[in-house]
Amino acid sequence: MFCIPGHYETDLESVLIPYGLIQDRIERLARDILRDNSPESIVALCVLKGGHKFFVDLCDHIQIVCRNSKVSLPMAIDFIRLKSYVGTESSQDVQVIGGDNLADLKGKNVLVVEDIIDTGRTMTKLISLLKTYDPKSVQVASLLVKRTPQSVGYKPDYIGFEVPDKFVVGYALDYNEYFRDLGHICVINENGKRKYATKK
Ligand code: HPA
Ligand code: MG
Repeated sequence: MFCIPGHYETDLESVLIPYGLIQDRIERLARDILRDNSPESIVALCVLKGGHKFFVDLCDHIQIVCRNSKVSLPMAIDFIRLKSYVGTESSQDVQVIGGDNLADLKGKNVLVVEDIIDTGRTMTKLISLLKTYDPKSVQVASLLVKRTPQSVGYKPDYIGFEVPDKFVVGYALDYNEYFRDLGHICVINENGKRKYATKK
């Protein structure tokens, strides 16, 4: 029933969230974010690479709602990438690469925009790190939250959809850099996992 790029037709188990439904949910999230934050300003912080489509569509929807109503939300944007590395000890840490000087976040309302929260470990570490720069507030919007027994219990402020404990791809979420060029959020199948087991 859905338009799937030919090169992925045999690699997917199911379409979990069609593109149109993603867009509709994002419009609603944009309204919720405006309701909670307007007329204060925010810094929207995109977590690359997986968050880029959600980030662009969320910013677009916020701007459309602002244009068509009397609410306003002055917004600055920035882009970061996270590197999780396992230390020599048992300590796992997260490192922020790219983006402007994080010290500029002092006194600002920060909205982190992420594609998926899995265990929640990375996000809780990122939030702690951002808070060391003394922002006024830190909120998180995640398009997806995975229902997994490995969860540390973290829940973001804004959630698009909850998804089952399966590997999902599409709408900028990847498997070894593949499937970012797929509009719907889908579950990858065994054939896809085998075919794209090595990084692009
Ligand atoms: N898909 C893509 N990236 C991810 C996932 C997933 O299911 N879980 C954590 N990162
Ligand atoms: Mg991510």
